[in-house]
Amino acid sequence: MEIIVKQDYDQMSRCAAEHIAELIRKKPNSVIGFATGRTPIGTYRELIRMHKEEGLDFSQVVTFNLDEYLGLGMDLSKPYALDQSYQRFMYEELFNHINIKKENIHIPDGLTKNPDEFCKAYEEAIKEAGGIDLQILGIGGDGHWAFNEPGSTLDSRTRVEKLNEQTIKDNYEAFYKEAGFTMDEMPHYAITMGLGTILEAKSLLMLANGAKKAKVVAKALYGPVTDQVTASAIQVYKGKATIILDKEAASML
Ligand code: GLP
Repeated sequence: MEIIVKQDYDQMSRCAAEHIAELIRKKPNSVIGFATGRTPIGTYRELIRMHKEEGLDFSQVVTFNLDEYLGLGMDLSKPYALDQSYQRFMYEELFNHINIKKENIHIPDGLTKNPDEFCKAYEEAIKEAGGIDLQILGIGGDGHWAFNEPGSTLDSRTRVEKLNEQTIKDNYEAFYKEAGFTMDEMPHYAITMGLGTILEAKSLLMLANGAKKAKVVAKALYGPVTDQVTASAIQVYKGKATIILDKEAASML
């Protein structure tokens, strides 16, 4: 794996966007796995800038998102802050601002009536698209990838996962709190790609910033490979993994 340490969040974001853009220029019909969370927002802003100013073309790009809260779906009757679905996040933060085709966007359907069937179909759709060329990842406070909470196995597939207390608290602090929600309103379940699904991507791009992530990043990259820190799966990954960190997130390496 290649670890790149940048001075700050903006430089981390620019470097990550350049990495993604390079793939799109080389392979215009790339299949890209997108992630949500605070971490990739700067990267998405930079991709939007590259689209607007440099003509970066997303017209043939196919996307698969990592996860979605169970019970939530995009609700355009609400203002963005009150619609905490990951689907809304992706449209607001990226898809609305680039020339991606709607039919090429795949995000787990949190409103599905049959989650098990949906999860199987999602896996199939990834296969039919030829697999994911590049999967973008953040890292949760408890070391998770997507919503693969502690206990998730390396061969886990897309499924419904129960969120643990730390994740619920972290995501409340990061998004729900400032929109005026209470902790009771936090979703407790999500649909998530499995670790096995993620490890099948042809390349990975993991991002982390801020001192709060330093300990868990060190555990994931250099600690034991354990189901208690599911991002430690990166150590057994066979493809090309690139990790871009800001100085603070890299401070315990
Ligand atoms: C959520 C998402 C993860 C993301 C994590 C970290 O749990 N399911 O995909 O990596 O949050 O989010 P942030 O980037 O806001 O720290």
